[in-house]
Amino acid sequence: MTRADTSIPASVDPFDLFDEWFAEAQGSEPNDANAMALATATHAGAPSVRMVLLKEHGAGLGENGGFVFYTNAQSRKGAEIRANPQAALLFHWKSLRRQIRIEGALTEVSSTQADAYFQSRPFVSQVGSAASDQSQPLDDRETYLTRVQALEKRYADAGRVPRPPEWTGFRLEPAGMEFWRDRPNRLHERRKFVRGEAGKWASTLLYP
Ligand SMILES: Cc1cc2nc3c(=O)[nH]c(=O)nc-3n(C[C@H](O)[C@H](O)[C@H](O)COP(=O)(O)O)c2cc1C
Repeated sequence: MTRADTSIPASVDPFDLFDEWFAEAQGSEPNDANAMALATATHAGAPSVRMVLLKEHGAGLGENGGFVFYTNAQSRKGAEIRANPQAALLFHWKSLRRQIRIEGALTEVSSTQADAYFQSRPFVSQVGSAASDQSQPLDDRETYLTRVQALEKRYADAGRVPRPPEWTGFRLEPAGMEFWRDRPNRLHERRKFVRGEAGKWASTLLYP
């Protein structure tokens, strides 16, 4: 490849490229290749950011498409999403020296989908999230551990915890996806894909 060649062709489908890079990251990252920064903002536009895990993704629109994470809707991010359902995601895979930025609107997944995912989690994870009033003040760590023990005892026979109604998932439907990769001499490469009319993607290179 010469210095002028682009390694991210304009013709590529951004979801296919995401899948390709994600698969490589799963093979090379020391842990949590599916960890992504999620940026939300208040109604007034004050931003906040935290890591979450990508749990499902797909190229289609609606039920099977977009980028899905699970969380507590009563958390700080949950309140911001209710007030302003726009968000941005960021993957940075240090092992590959690559970054993907994704932006778009969020919608809550169906309760059937949230139930299915919650029930797929290990019992201890179900207990941990059901016991947590995520983002609310906690007087003492012991209070949380006592709640955990109580839930473990209560649901030990069932071996599963019912999904708390506030524990749900959100799907980001991308309007834009931007891929950045390291190239020699810091002459890096960026390509931005924007979803246009009828869901068709158009892309352009950007100065790094
Ligand atoms: C690698 C990593 C993955 C995480 N994954 C999740 C997740 O999938 N869902 C979640 O609610 N919190 C996750 N967290 C915790 C969040 O970063 C955050 O502390 C929590 O969701 C509360 O955020 P909020 O107060 O902004 O709502 C993760 C943290 C790290 C470091």
